[in-house]
Amino acid sequence: IIRDLVFQALRRLCPAKLEGKDKGDLISLITSDVELLEVFYAHTISPICIAALTSGIMCLYIGSFHWSLGVLALIAFLCVGVALPIVISKRSGTLGDELRAQSGELAAYMLENIRSLNETIQYGCKEQRLTSMNQKTDALSKRQGILNRLTGTNVALANTLILLFDIAMLVLSGSLYVNGVVGFDGFLVPLIALMSSFGPVIALANLGTTLQSTVAAASRVLALLDETPETEDITGKSTVAFSGAKLCDVSFSYDGKSVLDHLSISFPHNQIIGVVGKSGCGKSTMMKLLMRFWKTSSGSVDISGTSVEKINTTNLRDMESYMTQDTHLFMDTIANNIRIAKRSASDEEVIAACKKAALHDFIMTLPNGYETQVGELGETLSGGERQRIGLARAFLHNAPFMLLDEPTSNLDSLNEAIILRTLHEEAQDKTIALVSHRKSTMRIAGTVISMDSGRVS
Ligand SMILES: Nc1ncnc2c1ncn2[C@@H]1O[C@H](COP(=O)(O)OP(=O)(O)OP(=O)(O)O)[C@@H](O)[C@H]1O
Ligand SMILES: [Mg+2]
Repeated sequence: IIRDLVFQALRRLCPAKLEGKDKGDLISLITSDVELLEVFYAHTISPICIAALTSGIMCLYIGSFHWSLGVLALIAFLCVGVALPIVISKRSGTLGDELRAQSGELAAYMLENIRSLNETIQYGCKEQRLTSMNQKTDALSKRQGILNRLTGTNVALANTLILLFDIAMLVLSGSLYVNGVVGFDGFLVPLIALMSSFGPVIALANLGTTLQSTVAAASRVLALLDETPETEDITGKSTVAFSGAKLCDVSFSYDGKSVLDHLSISFPHNQIIGVVGKSGCGKSTMMKLLMRFWKTSSGSVDISGTSVEKINTTNLRDMESYMTQDTHLFMDTIANNIRIAKRSASDEEVIAACKKAALHDFIMTLPNGYETQVGELGETLSGGERQRIGLARAFLHNAPFMLLDEPTSNLDSLNEAIILRTLHEEAQDKTIALVSHRKSTMRIAGTVISMDSGRVS
C-alpha cells in the first residue's frame, strides 16, 4: 500500500520532480525506506501489542500468588519494555536519520558511477571515483559500526536488568515463603513465570535502535507524499480542440534562476514555427511550459485561446506530441518502444510512422525487424536511430500540435531531408513548433523566431 502511495505521489510530482534531482536517493527511498516501514508495521506495532498483552496477563498471574510479586513483575516489564527503549532511542539520537541519508547518498553515487562509466574511462578518473566511493562506503560502515556497538550495549543492558529483576524476585518470593505468607508453589512459580516471560519485552528493548531509522525512513516517505506537485492534474473541464498556441508575456525561473523574461510567441494553426537561439536561452523550457510540466511565474500559456491551466491534462497531452532533446528508450522491442505513443496502434500504423521518421529501412535491416530488443536506455542504438524512434513516436501520436526539440541534430543530411519532407506534409493539418540549431532544418519553417536570454530578440 505504501509503495502504491509513493508511486502515486511520484506520478503527481513528475516530470518537474525528476529534473536535475537525485534519482539514486529517490531509488533508495522507494526501495529501502519503504521496506523499513514494512518492518515497522510487521515488527514494531505487533510486538508492542504482544508485549502489552502477555505482560499484563503475566502480572495478574504472578500477582495471584501475592500482590507484591505482581507489582514487582509489573515494574520489571515496564523497565525493560518501556523505560529502556526510550533511553536507548535517546542515546542513538540522530544516528538513524544520518544512516538513512548516507545510504541514500551512496546509492545515488553508485548509480552515477554506472551511468558515467564512459566518461570515467575516457578521462581517467577511475582512481578519483573509486577513492570517493570508498570514502562514502567507509563513512557509512563507520556509522553502521557505531549503531552496531550501540545495539550491543543495549542488549547487555537489557540482560543485566533482567538478571537484576530475577534476583529481586528470588529474594522477594523467598522471603515471603520463609515468612509463611506463600507456599512453596508461591515461591517457585512466580520466579519461573517471570524468568520465562521477558521475551516479548526484550523485543521492545531491541526496537530502540531501529526505531530511529524507521522514523527517519517514515519521515522521508511522508515528506514525499506531502510534497505539492509543480503542476496538478486537471480534470472536469470541457474538451478543447486545437486551433493554435500562444505564449503571452511569459516569465519563468527555475528556483529563482530567471530563464524566460516576458516572452511572447504565437504558434498559429497549421504552420511551422521555427525557434532558434543560443544554447541555454530557454527554448526547451518554453516547450516544457507548453506541455505544462512547469507553471509560469507570470504571463499565460494558451492553447486555442484557453490557458493551459484550464485544460484537462489528458486533453492537453492528446493535443501535443512532444519530442524531447533526448529520447528515452525502454528495454523492449522497437515496435513496443514506438507503440507507447499510441497503445492501440496497428502494425501498419507503426510502420507508417517509421516510414515518416526515415526509420523503416533501418529497422528492416535488423535480423528481428520490429521485434528487435532495445538494450537498456537504448544503448544498443546510435544517437540518430534513437532520435528517429522519438520522431516515429511523435508521428504515431498524431497530435495536432507537434513540439520538436532538435529533431534532426544527430542525423545525416539524407535522413534529415526525408524527415523535413514529412514535416512539410504534416504541416498541412498540423502546427509544428520546431527548435533547431541547424540552418538546413530551419528552412522548412514558415516563420523563424529568434530567442535571446529568455525573450524574442
Ligand atoms: N530543471 C532545471 N533546473 C534548473 N535550471 C534549469 C533546469 N532546466 C534547465 N535549466 C537552465 O535553464 C536554462 C535554459 O535551459 P533550456 O534547456 O531551456 O535551454 P535551451 O535553449 O533549450 O538550450 P539548448 O539549445 O542547449 O538545448 C539553462 O541555463 C539551464 O541551465
Ligand atoms: Mg534545449
